[in-house]
Amino acid sequence: MEKFVIQGLGGKKTLKGTVRVNGAKNAALKAMAAAVLFDGPVRLKNMPHTEDIHIQAEILRKLGADVSWTKDSGEIDHAMEIDTRGLRSTDIDGELAGKMRASVVLTGPLLGRFGKATFPAPGGCVIGARPIDLFISGYEAMGAMTKEDGVYDISVSPKSKVQSLKGANIIFKKVSVGATETLMMAAVLAEGKTVLENCACEPEIVNVVEWLNACGAKIKGVGTSTIEIEGTGGRLLSSESAAKNPYVAIPDRIEAGSYLVLGALCADELKIDDCRPEHLGALIDLLKLSGVPIKTTDSSIVVSGNTMPDSSFKTFDVTTKEYPGFATDLQPMIAVYMTQVSGRSKLTETIYEGRFKYVDDLKSLGADIDTVSSQEITISGPSRLKALPAGREMKALDIRAGFAVVLAALCAEGETTVTNIGLIDRGYERLEERLQSLGADVVRN
Ligand code: EPZ
Repeated sequence: MEKFVIQGLGGKKTLKGTVRVNGAKNAALKAMAAAVLFDGPVRLKNMPHTEDIHIQAEILRKLGADVSWTKDSGEIDHAMEIDTRGLRSTDIDGELAGKMRASVVLTGPLLGRFGKATFPAPGGCVIGARPIDLFISGYEAMGAMTKEDGVYDISVSPKSKVQSLKGANIIFKKVSVGATETLMMAAVLAEGKTVLENCACEPEIVNVVEWLNACGAKIKGVGTSTIEIEGTGGRLLSSESAAKNPYVAIPDRIEAGSYLVLGALCADELKIDDCRPEHLGALIDLLKLSGVPIKTTDSSIVVSGNTMPDSSFKTFDVTTKEYPGFATDLQPMIAVYMTQVSGRSKLTETIYEGRFKYVDDLKSLGADIDTVSSQEITISGPSRLKALPAGREMKALDIRAGFAVVLAALCAEGETTVTNIGLIDRGYERLEERLQSLGADVVRN
């Protein structure tokens, strides 16, 4: 199992340089699933080399698709071609699906195209219950039947002569990114019109829909809470239009936000390039109110952490919300920030029930955190963080909590070893190389 060995900066703000933001994995994963809606090859650009993308590629290959990386620009292959003409199975591989929740998104396009899909309860980050009831009830509203016996077996009713899903009116009882995307993709090939209400509005969903619409899908209202899809009645989207309209992943707002908090705490000056600051409004506004000097253009953010000590930054309270609110995926990083500012901050998590598991790790480094409930913590700062005694290691608990302990280790004095970094690799491409390029002493062992 690989580890990061991190030399803490002990509160000094010495990191300097530029990081270029990669394509958004949470959009790219869904675009890969959407390739199933096409009658031939599609080209996807600005794809990040994160582990989740590699797992999704493997799942598609096991179903019979051809998935290959190609050069986009620069030295690393960031473009991908997916050809689903060879698809011969609708059974999503259990072991791979167990590693990653986004595997469930494939069920929408599979069901739309073949009228059936089999999959295990999806795995992924252990941050809460993460049920799939919204998917199942949505499919049932579209005419599919579900059998559950260890795996979910969903198919369009055999009694019906028609194999396609039928358009339906679906009101989600909870806002869900994955259910919005999945039901929407299922509806693209369905018969008739589907109206989805109480939808998620995340930019990653908009990104995929703009591509699908450029390739002939008829989806209206994305980015608002009501989405209408006019189904093709089983006709696949054309790879000819896909050849003219490659998918390009938007910059990853969570990766950009993670580096922004790093910049505020550890950098003399950090430029975050090729990003979309408009997607990070909630975080940027809070950090600016707190006193962090931040300058933005349409595609970059410059944070000058060194202009004043962290202890002069003001505290604030944060409640996570669906987009455009404060992203739950940035919650662990903002907790680290709160340990370094003067005063008491309150952090409330509303999306997941189990996303404060990293708190014990921060406390073991010297953070002063009270757990009010499973959904709320208070943090008093500033705390001088210190690495654990020699021989003790910290463990990445999920993608974002993993980044947060790396960040805390950089703020601390001394050497910290973070284990289980495969989880960090699921969401961050070559994190240690990028930190090294800013002057950090972080080694992968
Ligand atoms: C996406 O997960 C992201 N993952 C998550 O990012 C992100 O935390 C989350 O959206 C919220 O922004 C991907 O896009 C691959 P949800 P998703 O369905 O779609 C409940 C990261 O670190 N729910 O919007 O799985 C669910 O339990 C990851 O990159 C149901 O109750 O999230 C949660 O409480 C982690 N029933 C809430 O909805 C359902 O059927 C929101 O989850 C579906 C979801």
